[in-house]
Amino acid sequence: MSNNQQLTTNNQIGIVGSGAMGAGIAQVAASAGHKVVVYDNNLQALDKAKIDLANTLKKLVEKQKLTDEKVRSIIANTQFANDLNEFKNCGLVIEAIIENIDVKQKLFSDLETIVSADCILATNTSSLSIASIASACKKAERVIGIHFFNPAPIMPLVEIIPGIMTDASVTENSKKIIDSWGKVTVLTKDTPGFIVNRVARSFYGESIRIFEEGMADFATIDWALKTYGGFKMGPFELMDFIGNDINFKVTESVWTQFFFEPRLKPSLTQKRLYEAKLFGKKSGRGYYNYADGIVLPQPKQDEELGKYIFNRVICMLINEAIDSLYLQLASKEDLDLAMTKGVNYPKGLLKWADEIGIKNVYTSLDVLYELYNEDRYRPSILLKMMVRDDKKFY
Ligand SMILES: NC(=O)c1ccc[n+]([C@@H]2O[C@H](COP(=O)([O-])OP(=O)(O)OC[C@H]3O[C@@H](n4cnc5c(N)ncnc54)[C@H](O)[C@@H]3O)[C@@H](O)[C@H]2O)c1
Repeated sequence: MSNNQQLTTNNQIGIVGSGAMGAGIAQVAASAGHKVVVYDNNLQALDKAKIDLANTLKKLVEKQKLTDEKVRSIIANTQFANDLNEFKNCGLVIEAIIENIDVKQKLFSDLETIVSADCILATNTSSLSIASIASACKKAERVIGIHFFNPAPIMPLVEIIPGIMTDASVTENSKKIIDSWGKVTVLTKDTPGFIVNRVARSFYGESIRIFEEGMADFATIDWALKTYGGFKMGPFELMDFIGNDINFKVTESVWTQFFFEPRLKPSLTQKRLYEAKLFGKKSGRGYYNYADGIVLPQPKQDEELGKYIFNRVICMLINEAIDSLYLQLASKEDLDLAMTKGVNYPKGLLKWADEIGIKNVYTSLDVLYELYNEDRYRPSILLKMMVRDDKKFY
């Protein structure tokens, strides 16, 4: 398939799944001026999405972020359908249903019998491979990953992930249309966790490791990364906010799919929280206890300890970003954009490496590697070569 016909706002967009992601993506597409069809196999979910959209838009008018006229056009653009055949005129369909390979493959195979020959079929999957989803299609070359972040109307980043079979014109058209929706797109390879969900793992993993070694408590580690790194939230606050169920499952999935890479290894501390259903804010308790009247623990504001914690975590993050660059996951610019726009890091990790000093990053990791004799701390070969050649990223 070579589809050089570019997608425009004249193209109808289909969204499958009207949950958190599907509803958000539909709002983005309808706001950009497309006619959108939203389908869900659960009628209650579909009704809820319709009511939620009206309420969300009403709030945006109250906050003076949208005009009444714009709201009317978004509502008029959005059709909620309980029949997949309504997708027959779509130029692009984005799937955001349950994260289950069998269910997704069945859907993609069904969609192919409905849509036109040049319709692009995209998946918003977080953890499945694009190759595996596309394998259910006769025209695997039309299938691509278009990965939004939650909440889709607010988070600027979208990862564009061509699979092994995806035609270059499909990638180009998908990127252009999502750019035109006002999103920041980055192009990345079909590897576990794509960019953000892979590179960010050390923020959580190394912080938990520092806790497990008894060096500092949660509050102190959170304080260190906010104070010396400028992160908006510390790792434990963030895990409690995301949910330890989701965060643990993502970590486990990325690690398993990378054939048990030691840098990405999950921790027993988080697994126990998960098993005990201490999911974080949404369950009332995670690393912290959010019950009324409980005073949150105070950090030990020790400068030397704080700087040690920050340096260890940031060097692990940078090493993952450097290794991703070495393995050509994405360009250096896209790797940096992904972390600032997808998870609000104060700086791109490669830019940060230049600021800290490539040699300093290497030395910190090498000291840990020598000390622990664990593969987890081995510096990326690219980092080694950059030190040897006295190079910077920018
Ligand atoms: N929630 C996030 O933070 C997030 C972020 C990025 C990507 N994702 C990915 O987006 C997808 C959807 O996640 P979500 O959080 O919106 O899930 P969700 O549970 O909120 O919504 C999923 C919706 O899909 C519907 N559905 C299930 N099977 C279906 C089928 N066969 N046909 C039609 N509809 C079906 C369900 O009724 C439900 O309304 C997943 O692949 C997930 O990995 C989620």
